[in-house]
Amino acid sequence: MNTDIKILIVDDEDNLRTAVKKILQMEGYTVSTAENGTKGISIGSSDDFDVVLIDLKMPDISGMEVLARLRQVKPNTSYYIATAYASYETAVEAIKLGAEGYILKPFTPDELLHDIRKGIEKRRLIIEAEELKREREANLLELAFERSRLNTVIKSITEGVLVVNKDREAVYFNPAFIKLLKADELELARNVSDVLPYPIYEMIDNMLNDSSSEIKTQSDEFKTDADGDLYVEVSVSPILGNDHSMDGVVLVVNNITTYKQIELLKNQFISMVSHELKAPVAATLGFLEILTNPSIILPETQQIEYLTRASARLKSLIEMVNDLLDISRSELNTVRREIRPVIVQKVIEEVLLLFENEAAKRNIAVEIKYEENIPLINVDPNEIERLLTNLVSNAIKYNKNDGKVLISVHKSAKYVEISVEDTGIGMKPGEKEKLFNEFYRAKNEFTKTISGTGLGLSIVKRILDYYQGYVNVESEYGKGTRFIIYLPYIDEHNTNQH
Ligand SMILES: Nc1ncnc2c1ncn2[C@@H]1O[C@H](COP(=O)(O)OP(=O)(O)OP(=O)(O)O)[C@@H](O)[C@H]1O
Ligand SMILES: [Mg+2]
Repeated sequence: MNTDIKILIVDDEDNLRTAVKKILQMEGYTVSTAENGTKGISIGSSDDFDVVLIDLKMPDISGMEVLARLRQVKPNTSYYIATAYASYETAVEAIKLGAEGYILKPFTPDELLHDIRKGIEKRRLIIEAEELKREREANLLELAFERSRLNTVIKSITEGVLVVNKDREAVYFNPAFIKLLKADELELARNVSDVLPYPIYEMIDNMLNDSSSEIKTQSDEFKTDADGDLYVEVSVSPILGNDHSMDGVVLVVNNITTYKQIELLKNQFISMVSHELKAPVAATLGFLEILTNPSIILPETQQIEYLTRASARLKSLIEMVNDLLDISRSELNTVRREIRPVIVQKVIEEVLLLFENEAAKRNIAVEIKYEENIPLINVDPNEIERLLTNLVSNAIKYNKNDGKVLISVHKSAKYVEISVEDTGIGMKPGEKEKLFNEFYRAKNEFTKTISGTGLGLSIVKRILDYYQGYVNVESEYGKGTRFIIYLPYIDEHNTNQH
């Protein structure tokens, strides 16, 4: 195994070179030789020797120079200077130049081997140390890389992150944290007590003061701006050190505004529904109480009137429940549709039949105007009927006596456009915006006496959404309103191609 070890002898004395070479080869080392300084430099720098033994006095270049030159290119090799003229200065100079030491000539094989072994060992240690150093550097590099990557990750997540130490100082935070909590004044090493909203600071403080052994993550919701447009959920968790004591806490902030808004809408919807359901039930109950009260005796005509009014209220109640069911079905995507090519004009005529009486009662003239060659639309006829029923019902309901309703159908590049126009009460610009919201009803002097639930147009909107159609509204308060619905039609040209 010593053959792995390479030794170079640089000496101009032939006998000595041969003798040394033999001794070392007997030990199993691989030995090279050079008979002068110049060759010594060229051989010594072309290979990795473990030990180089250099004669001090050579005719061409001095051993010291050979040593100096070789050290520059092979700093990890162990060098020995061999000399018969040992003096203190030579030794000092040799060691200054990086030699392990010098060997006094003449030397015994044992003396030689002793020094050579020392040199080999020294070289081994140097190489080992070098390797360790390289490994350590590689590890550190990896660590630094990991750290910067982690940093990048935390910086780019949408959740806010803040780490606070035991002294309540910020030791780490990301841009999202500043943004979500509007904590522009936050900086590293700053005490967070006057930067964070008090309730959030309190969460941190409470946790840091908690001395119990099992501390769990605490979460709470906060509104972070006065307008109430931003809701966040803040979670505080302990950071435990090696000895299980708390080093600090980490805060994670989530934007929960959307969930909050949905929750709010849901609550509004439920309270509106309950409110709307209550009125007809209460009215009906009122009539029934009068009619069943033995101490109240009513003429028959009055009894019939009360029963008629009660059943009208119940009818409107059923209609509303049906509307609500429609809405929830479309919300849950459980609407069953039978889609087929439909002639729009036919549906319009069927719908108008339903309103003949009502229109006649108030002397409202209904006019229809169709263009030629109106294409078919691919829809569930019931849904289109419901859509048109709502629009025509509104056009009559929100009309004036002796008013007019004009229904026209027009074909454009992609859509069949159905316009329902009335000469009724119209709407104010602000009212137009909210028309399609559930339960929205404009409140003005005209609508005071007109009953309805505010669900009709929200159903219209849902139906149009499903068929990739849309609706436009033009309205002038006190003058009239025009709804135009756009429904994509079946393109004969395209369908034939398929
Ligand atoms: N043609 C119209 N002219 C004037 N205002 C209208 C017209 N159509 C709708 N509106 C306004 O829009 C509101 C919402 O209409 P929508 O059809 O959704 O509900 P509604 O008619 O009040 O009740 P429902 O149709 O459920 O019985 C109405 O209350 C009314 O204020
Ligand atoms: Mg309506």
